[in-house]
Amino acid sequence: MSAAHGEMGSEHSPAHAAHGDAGHHHAPYVPVFTGARKTELDELLTRYPTKMAALLPALWMIQEERGWVPSEGMAEVAEVLELTPAYVKGVVSFYTMYHQHPVAKHFIQVCTTSPCNVCGAEDVVNALLKHTGCEELGVQSPDGKYQVIEVECLGACGFNTPLMVNEKFIESVTVESVPALLASLG
Ligand code: FES
Repeated sequence: MSAAHGEMGSEHSPAHAAHGDAGHHHAPYVPVFTGARKTELDELLTRYPTKMAALLPALWMIQEERGWVPSEGMAEVAEVLELTPAYVKGVVSFYTMYHQHPVAKHFIQVCTTSPCNVCGAEDVVNALLKHTGCEELGVQSPDGKYQVIEVECLGACGFNTPLMVNEKFIESVTVESVPALLASLG
C-alpha cells in the first residue's frame, strides 16, 4: 500500500477540530482508548489473529482523535497491543500517513510524481502555496488552516492534478480551480 493512500479502513471523520490543542505539548496526555474508542478497539481485536495485526488501525484511531500521533499515543498503543514502544515508533515512522507532528486543519498532499508533473502538478502546488498563504512546502499557513506537501503517485495518473485533503481524495485539480477548492474546505 502506498503510504500516502487513504485506505485506513475507518469510517470515522478525523477529529481535526482537535488540532487547535495539538501544539500544547505540555498538556497531560489523555488516553484515547477509553469509552467508545476502547469498545471499538476491543471489537477490532476480535477480527485480527493477533494484537499486533491491529497496530495500523489502532494508530489510525489515535490520529483521528488527536490529529497526529504523539509519542504518548504510541506508548498507549504499545501498551494496549502488548508491543514495545520502539516497534510502534518504527511503524509510525515508516508510514507517511501517520503524522508525527501536529499538522494544519487541512493537510493537503499533492502528487508531483512525473506523470502528474507533466500535467501541471507543480503549477498547482505553487497555486496552493500562494492561495493558502503557506510560505513553503510543509509549513503551516499563519492561520493554521493549511499545510501543503508533495507526495508520490496517488493512483490517478494521466489527468489533471490529484491531491488529498486529509483523508479526502480530490482529482483533476487545476491552477484555476484551486481558489474554489480552498473555499470549499471552509
Ligand atoms: S503519478 Fe500522480 S497519481 Fe500517479
